[in-house]
Amino acid sequence: MHFDAIGRVPGDPILGLMDLYAQDTNPNKFDLGVGVYKDDQGLTPIPHSVKLAEQRLVEQQTTKTYIGGHGDAAFGTLISALVLGADSALIRERRAGATQTPGGTGALRLSADFIAHSLPGRGVWLSNPTWPIHETIFAKAGLKVSHYPYVGADNRLDVAAMLATLATVPKGDVVLLHACCHNPTGFDLSQDDWREVLQIVRERQLLPLIDFAYQGFGDGLEQDAWAVRLFAAALPEVLVTSSCSKNFGLYRDRVGALIVCAANAEKLTDVRSQLANTARNLWSTPPDHGAAVVATILGDAELKKLWSEEVEAMRSRIAQLRSGLVEALAPHGLAERFAHIGAQRGMFSYTGLSAAQVQQLREKHSVYMVSSGRANVAGMDATRLALLAQAIADVSN
Ligand code: LMR
Repeated sequence: MHFDAIGRVPGDPILGLMDLYAQDTNPNKFDLGVGVYKDDQGLTPIPHSVKLAEQRLVEQQTTKTYIGGHGDAAFGTLISALVLGADSALIRERRAGATQTPGGTGALRLSADFIAHSLPGRGVWLSNPTWPIHETIFAKAGLKVSHYPYVGADNRLDVAAMLATLATVPKGDVVLLHACCHNPTGFDLSQDDWREVLQIVRERQLLPLIDFAYQGFGDGLEQDAWAVRLFAAALPEVLVTSSCSKNFGLYRDRVGALIVCAANAEKLTDVRSQLANTARNLWSTPPDHGAAVVATILGDAELKKLWSEEVEAMRSRIAQLRSGLVEALAPHGLAERFAHIGAQRGMFSYTGLSAAQVQQLREKHSVYMVSSGRANVAGMDATRLALLAQAIADVSN
């Protein structure tokens, strides 16, 4: 038979946790696996701003015909302004343009194929560790994937090692950087660190590909864009992958963008022609609904204000959960050992728990997290932090 030789691959380690969690009948279970925001009821709410925009679309949308290869033009303009800043010179000079993609993952896939096709011979450098799909998406596009150190075995950010390796990267290679809220670790670079990275990127003539999946979840919508804007202002060419999954709560609607910054408007048009061509062969044209929602929100002052407040509420709740967990660990004598959880940014924490401890947490306490020791802080529940701390203490001592 045709399929006889086909074997089975293991399920996705992050998405697979959703199924395992769903099957667990323990009423006190914790879902700290996949990166989705949850409220204290354990629900991933649809923001009010999104609901209002959807209502408006239902009433006012007149067609479902295809949108072009770059997607909704209004979405492209508005997401570029959100990422690069409303007053960005790049936008004014028509040196930046967004191609709408199915989620941030679609933007990464589009970047990977673009690099493989239009920049042959360039390798891609990823942080160690990084989001597992970064590893596979570039490899599947046929690119050589290498790593720069990021977090050491002692579960600390190692900027010196990162910079030392970046200084050896072959000229012209692509370096993937996490704009903020590093996935999986939650350890972010300081502004001084970013300036040092920029200097090496410049010296080695590297092409930065900045993954920006968590705008608004670190220090704020504007603050989180600081490094992206630094690079975009200082360098002639930058790629940015932006995701609206988390900050708009549009996970399943798949909204993202690949934003290209080029040396001039003419070159941007050349690059965008390649992207449209590549996208046509990947997904033809992107899904519309989520991007139309984003464009409706960002294009309306009142909805944008409401949305910004909703993002800020999610952000500050995650920050409170971080400090709350460290406090809850204090009676167990573990506040210092896990102090980094309070200092990390975004949804994720590299807890420093080993794969064996993660397994114990799951089997003994129905706490689900990725075997690397990554916990989704945004999946915690403020009313049960003491219970979670007790479980962590049980496997840590
Ligand atoms: C995660 O890392 O959990 C999120 O980015 C969701 C995903 O697609 O893996």
